[in-house]
Amino acid sequence: MCGIFAYLNYLTPKSRQEVLDLLLTGLKRLEYRGYDSTGVAIDSPDNKNIVMVKRTGKVKVLEEAIQEHFSGADYSEPVLTHIGIAHTRWATHGVPCERNSHPHRSDEGNGFVVVHNGIITNYNDVKTFLAKRGYDFESDTDTEVFAKLVHHLWKTHPTYSFRELVEQAILQVEGAFAIAVKSKHFPGECVASRRSSPLLVGIKTKTRLATDHIPILYGKDDKKLNPDQDTDSGKQQVLPRSESTSEFMPLEEKEVEYFFASDASAVIEHTNRVIYLEDDDVAAVRDGTLSIHRLKKSLDDPHAREITTLKMEIQQIMKGNYDYFMQKEIFEQPDSVVNTMRGRVRFDGNAIVLGGIKDYIPEIKRCRRLMLIGCGTSYHSAVATRQLLEELTELPVMVELASDFLDRNTPIFRDDVCFFISQSGETADTLMALRYCKQRGALIVGITNTVGSSICRESHCGVHINAGPEIGVASTKAYTSQFISLVMFALVMSEDRLSLQQRRLEILQALSKLADQIRAVLKLDSKVQELAKDLYQHKSLLIMGRGYNFATCLEGALKVKELTYMHSEGIMAGELKHGPLALVDDSMPVLMIVLRDPVYVKCMNALQQVTSRKGCPIIICEEGDEETQAFSSRHLEIPRTVDCLQGILTVIPMQLLSYHIAVLRGCDVDCPRNLAKSVTVE
Ligand code: AGP
Repeated sequence: MCGIFAYLNYLTPKSRQEVLDLLLTGLKRLEYRGYDSTGVAIDSPDNKNIVMVKRTGKVKVLEEAIQEHFSGADYSEPVLTHIGIAHTRWATHGVPCERNSHPHRSDEGNGFVVVHNGIITNYNDVKTFLAKRGYDFESDTDTEVFAKLVHHLWKTHPTYSFRELVEQAILQVEGAFAIAVKSKHFPGECVASRRSSPLLVGIKTKTRLATDHIPILYGKDDKKLNPDQDTDSGKQQVLPRSESTSEFMPLEEKEVEYFFASDASAVIEHTNRVIYLEDDDVAAVRDGTLSIHRLKKSLDDPHAREITTLKMEIQQIMKGNYDYFMQKEIFEQPDSVVNTMRGRVRFDGNAIVLGGIKDYIPEIKRCRRLMLIGCGTSYHSAVATRQLLEELTELPVMVELASDFLDRNTPIFRDDVCFFISQSGETADTLMALRYCKQRGALIVGITNTVGSSICRESHCGVHINAGPEIGVASTKAYTSQFISLVMFALVMSEDRLSLQQRRLEILQALSKLADQIRAVLKLDSKVQELAKDLYQHKSLLIMGRGYNFATCLEGALKVKELTYMHSEGIMAGELKHGPLALVDDSMPVLMIVLRDPVYVKCMNALQQVTSRKGCPIIICEEGDEETQAFSSRHLEIPRTVDCLQGILTVIPMQLLSYHIAVLRGCDVDCPRNLAKSVTVE
């Protein structure tokens, strides 16, 4: 989804060229989120105007356009204070084109310029209101109304501060957003805010910060203006200026740099000190000082926003020796699964402690049912572990796609325990489902990979999967780590069940061997690449399996679809004769997962149904299983593990296969078309 990056230097001299470089690097770090156009806004050399450059396509295209735009101009002069805002856009309202790219402006003079993530749902009403007052619109976007609304408020309320103007505009708009606003009428100032879309502020000072929090301030009057009470309607209003109780609470440092970004990967190379903004926080920088305001006072508001130290390392968001982030992330899995278990699983004492939920385990054990809710790959991790959760918790387990769950207004009760699984922790559908369940009194457990994300903050308790940053849009290592997190939870829930001890032991032993077994599966890479060469020109690929491996079929098909743009379907082998068998002939590529587990005989039946229709399936089977291999055209052998963990080993060949097919088809592996890493709109 869209990415925001804004930079403000105060008393730290930087040339405009340096500011532009910083903005472009920030955008490059956000590229993985998915986007189709880009743009920046900086001050003109005389500081009297704002210059914008926007382009359709990649950041590289913008970089070239910037070079061309500024060629001949002297941008090497250091500037003490400067604000630049930048954006990667993932089109929602209006096709990807320069006109629709951000920043959007209030007027031809670029008085106010805005970058925005999310959707302003009442933009049509605001547009009509502004159009009646003479505003012309130049884009098809919802965002443009925001820039023009701030401008309108500035015209009608000349005494308002920049922050107050933005606050008033926010009070008029509905929907989800993160915004950063810059204005030539308020040089040296930047205002940013969020509602249901992530935004953080990075702070860089020469010396260590003297404070670990920024107090929250409130206006004396947070009244929303009546948008009709403006000068045009002849009702000149004398609205009280909303004074804060204490206007600014300064950081002690004088020289400071601020970064506003959609996620931490864009700021980590500059600073590890960040504040995650909450919904309806308004962060304003004036005279080099950051203040955080709330639009409305609420009883459960904390007094301050904490400055968090990021644990992330810059190397984690670099490709290293790999060609693509996705490839790197697939090969990181022997380590990422260990990181998920680190400090939690004690193989010597067969004990597991999940610190983030341990205090809630008695309550969870008393619950009516477990609900696992997520989207895409995260949903598949729930499908993959459902059977084990049912077995080890002896509770009913419902697995839900967040969007469908909301569409159905699913009944939720106070004694339900709802798990929200999300790599990014920001997926709008999952977050909405979380809020829906929270309102109904259920216990909310977050399973996320992103510390500080909305799902993480809004859950009562949870498990960080600790897979490390996942940059490729296609989720790989997050899936295996989500899988393991849920397995660990099942093991914790069955700790005191005597009858289940043998089973637990078997799983724990298998977990201890997992990293080496993943390494063994990764050695299949060149064999998988050969298979990809046979498959990449086909139109379709069917992936069949059942039991513990059905989730791999769904996840494998999703990977093939999103990365290669080929049609692919994950088919429950038990359903074959109820329809999908009609697809099978001697030319349809079929991949089947047939392992020596309780559903082996049923899988062999399905295999024979396929071969007797002249299908030539590629089989994923266990090492040395010649009997099964005899039915295949080609096969991939994976090490033997306990049934409930097979899905971790069988999904890796599928990740590799989709990756290689995508490379052979010339697809953009890390940023597949039309997709975004973090889906922050419903
Ligand atoms: C996976 O490859 C996809 N890109 C997608 O299905 C993803 O898993 C889904 O959008 C959910 O994202 P989340 O885990 O960040 O909530």
